[in-house]
Parts: sequence; C-alpha cells; structure tokens
Amino acid sequence: MTDIEARAREMLNAVHSASDMNALESVRISVLGKKGVLTEMMKGLGAMSAEERKIMGPALNGAKDQLTAAIAARAQTLQAQALNIRLAQERIDISLPARPEIRGAIHPVSQVIDEVIAIFGDMGFSVAEGPDIESDFYNFTALNIPPEHPARQMHDTFYFNEKPDGERLLLRTHTSPVQIRSMEKTKPPLRIIAPGRTYRCDSDMTHTPMFHQVEGLVIDETAHMGHLKGCLTEFCKAFFEVDNVRMRFRPSHFPFTEPSAEVDIGCRRSGGELRIGEGEDWLEILGCGMVHPKVLQHGGIDPDKYQGFAFGMGIDRLAMLKYGIPDLRDFFEADLRWLRHYGFAALDIPSLPGGLSR
Ligand code: PHE
Repeated sequence: MTDIEARAREMLNAVHSASDMNALESVRISVLGKKGVLTEMMKGLGAMSAEERKIMGPALNGAKDQLTAAIAARAQTLQAQALNIRLAQERIDISLPARPEIRGAIHPVSQVIDEVIAIFGDMGFSVAEGPDIESDFYNFTALNIPPEHPARQMHDTFYFNEKPDGERLLLRTHTSPVQIRSMEKTKPPLRIIAPGRTYRCDSDMTHTPMFHQVEGLVIDETAHMGHLKGCLTEFCKAFFEVDNVRMRFRPSHFPFTEPSAEVDIGCRRSGGELRIGEGEDWLEILGCGMVHPKVLQHGGIDPDKYQGFAFGMGIDRLAMLKYGIPDLRDFFEADLRWLRHYGFAALDIPSLPGGLSR
C-alpha cells in the first residue's frame, strides 16, 4: 500500500516535471503504456489472493486515475505555453510603415467610389448605407413592385431559403432599397448617395453576378426633371474630367419612378480597349426618374407636399469607361497582374481640388 503510494508519487513528479509534449509522452508510455510501470503492477493483480486483491485493486486503479488526470492537465499547460511562445514569436507590429516592395494598389472600383463620393459630396450629398441582404419589402414592394409584378422577373434575384415564418430574404438586386431606408430615417429635404454591392444572376462582358451601384436620391418641395438632368450632366463632366461628354437620355420605365429615363455614354470598343466619347457605341450607365408618389408614401413622406428624383448608376461601368477596361469580369478575378496594371496608389485620395485621378 505505502509502496504503491510512494511509486505513484514518483510517477506524478515525473509528469509534473515533463518540460515539453515529447517528454510528457515518454513519461506516459513508461507509466501507462503496454509495458509501463503501472500496467505491469496491474498485471500482477491476477496472481494475488482475493484478500490482497481487494486492497491492491482499488489502490492501483486510484493511482491510474490520478496519473491519467495529471497527464491531461500537464498536456494542457504545455500546449498553452507552446501557443503563447508562438504568438509572441509571430507577433506583427502593425504600426510599422508598409515596405515599398509589398505595397498594394487601390482597386478601380474603390477608386471610382471615392471619386463619386468626392463629386456628389461637393454638390451637398451625404453618404447613406443599407444591407446587402434585404427583405422583399425593401427591395421590391416598397419600390412599387408588388408580388406578381413582371419587373421582379427582370431582376434575376438570388433568393435565400424560406425562413420558418415563410419569409424569403434576398441579395439586393439594386441600391434602390436604400431610398426607402433613408426616407424612413430622415425627414426631407433629403440629398443622399448610397454606393454599395448589388447582385443579379447574370454574367457576360458587361455583367457579373455581383456588381456595384450608387443610388442617388433628392427629395424636397421643388426638385424636378431639369434638376435631375443638370445634376447628372455635371456629374459626368466632373467624373470623366472633360468639358463635354456624349450623353443620351432615353425614355424608359421603372416602377419606382415616373417619368423614367436611362442614360448612355458614347464610347468605342476597339483593339481590347474601351474609349469614352469616341465612335458610335453606347454603354448604359444609369437609370433615373422622378420618385413615384407611392414610393414616397412607403417611405413615410407626403407626396402632396414633397417630390424629388432618384438615379442608380453602375459603378463598375463607370470604371470601365473612364479607365478603358474592356471586360467587367476581370474586375473580380483577383489577378495580381491586372490589379497592378489598373490599380491606384494608396495615398492618392480623390478630391476635386486635388484632382480625381492622377
Ligand atoms: N434601380 C434601378 C436599376 O437597378 C436604377 C434606378 C434607380 C432607376 C433609381 C431609377 C431610379 O436598374
């Protein structure tokens, strides 16, 4: 009995002084392995008398439990120590300045978003946001697209699985839901832009399943179609950094605006390049119109008192035109050669006085 206790204490000491996981594993094998000290002692139980076994059995089992627990505890301590040492060694000083050879570039989409914000910011717009995962209400119903409306089919919507309560969330197909969210939050007059990601099940040279739009919304008591046209014309001149841009306002239809128009920019595709303002091609960059009274109502705004205009622009399309990028799909391939070619220096923040793109 005392012998077992003394042996067990020795073995426990060995466990506690194991200095790493390898040492601990050797101790475990020497104690509890097939030929381990304790295992051998337990094998001896069979040859004992019933009397002896009654005493030795529980003593040996107790020692075994104690040692097993001690080994597990020691293993945990050693692993925690090893992790702390590794964390200390691999620590990164994020306050160090970037090394020139590993400096990244700003993606053309980020660059264009900054440019768009600089231009509209100068016209008095503030930036609003909404979630990428939207409810059917904000993406469609509140925008005067009730269930069964044919416009829903045209949106190629990505839907989530139905929730237990029957609701189906979706990936927003445009930034227009931010119109409703902004009207709910802020009393008119309202002047916001909302840049962000949008999603449609579509893919070719000028469409990708995820793309970017910037929504614009102006609500006051007098805003009219002429203001809309002036605002967008000024924007295009500032954005493309030219005195004249070939623009075409085409009558169109959106359930959430009345009247509605689409705007194309003159361009030419040749030799793997896209050139703005030349040639006879047109690239559609935005939809716009006067906000429909029903949409104002859904946003909690009295349509007898207030009116306004809205537009939704394709940010990636703007980037393609301005920077001569022929294929939209390349934007999201994460090809470093492409990023280095079309990317922007991180510290050239676009501003009107400082220049948009240098
Ligand atoms: N949401 C429309 C689209 O994605 C664009 C749009 C926005 C049209 C605002 C009119 C007013 O096609």
